[in-house]
Amino acid sequence: MFQVNENYLKLPGSYLFSTIAKKVNAYEKANPDKRIIRLGIGDVTQPLVPAIIRAMHEAVDEMGNAESFRGYAPDLGYGFLREKIAQKDYRARGCDISADEIFISDGAKSDCGNIQEIFSQDCRIAVCDPVYPVYVDSNVMAGRCGDYDKVRGLWSNVIYMPCTAENDFVPELPRETPDLIYLCVPNNPTGTALTRQQLKVWVDYANKTGAVILYDAAYEAYIAQEEVPHSIFEIQGARTCAIEFRSFSKNAGFTGVRLGFTVIPKDLKSGDVAVHGLWARRHGTKFNGAPYIVQKAAMAVYSDEGKAQLKGQVAYYMKNAKVIYEGLKKAGYQVYGGVNAPYIWLKTPDGMSSWDFFDWLLEHANVVGTPGSGFGPSGEGYFRLTAFGTYENTAEAMERIRESREGF
Ligand code: MLT
Repeated sequence: MFQVNENYLKLPGSYLFSTIAKKVNAYEKANPDKRIIRLGIGDVTQPLVPAIIRAMHEAVDEMGNAESFRGYAPDLGYGFLREKIAQKDYRARGCDISADEIFISDGAKSDCGNIQEIFSQDCRIAVCDPVYPVYVDSNVMAGRCGDYDKVRGLWSNVIYMPCTAENDFVPELPRETPDLIYLCVPNNPTGTALTRQQLKVWVDYANKTGAVILYDAAYEAYIAQEEVPHSIFEIQGARTCAIEFRSFSKNAGFTGVRLGFTVIPKDLKSGDVAVHGLWARRHGTKFNGAPYIVQKAAMAVYSDEGKAQLKGQVAYYMKNAKVIYEGLKKAGYQVYGGVNAPYIWLKTPDGMSSWDFFDWLLEHANVVGTPGSGFGPSGEGYFRLTAFGTYENTAEAMERIRESREGF
């Protein structure tokens, strides 16, 4: 009889956003007259900008023509896009990254989930708490996390670095030494960020201890403050200790289109072995390249026209972030994030648990958010709202939240 990968059986419940969707669907079914506003999952609502649509149409036409038709894409990505990224996202910011250190993929979520495969089974991971669930769950599936303590919400073999209002959401260096350190800056879910100086502490620590920083920069486009780095490779020493994940989902609205990339410097080595080669090998075996049409569309992200249009889109979402931040403050909530990221993190009122508040808000304001405890035990007592809704819905949600608070 075949056996399943029993590590999967250790995973508690379903994926956070699937659980939320199920709850909301059930509520909707029971209350068909209510208009629910969804500020839960960080999914974009604005259409692709004209420069991207035009590039996509042109690429579609090329695919319909025998002379310009393309089959399989190069598994590591088309040279034109890798070169553009190296130049515009890295060299333009003074980062020493070359085109062949960039691996194009179908999105940062897959890369963040898959990267653990190229490291030893014995590696110990460290994560911020709260944390984007993919980092932990993918390591649980691989059998690296030990056992789950249901009461405390912790895995026995994971090093947790609590990030709460008490430490300004800045993780402290762990007491035990990890091998793989996941950092997400600007942070999902707290919407906070690290400065260059704060990140330098981590780069120095990783180089000293021989750890790798797995740096998720999916929300980089939302950085507003000068002191927050756009890439970990702005920090001296990062080439020997860091891998960076980037996404076109949040800066260009590709959540449904799918495209991202991972940067692995050739200087990142375990003994004589370059990690770069392992990821290239994995890509070659398990991935057949992102679609030509999508990679061509991504080129428009870097054109003058595309850049200007996307700047407008980011500003649109950040206006929502401000509406949420100020609306919640006015309603008497304690609020964090929302300055360098499209997420707002609030303290639940009167010590309510995150899930109780989720239910309460759904019932009294018909607004969906994400319970902080879904991101880890230190997220208990917090709640996340996303700025990716439409402006009209966001403003209405704030009005409803204000009114519901009055009746709290
Ligand atoms: C979120 O809501 O945390 C994000 O949409 C998840 C993701 O990007 O995969």
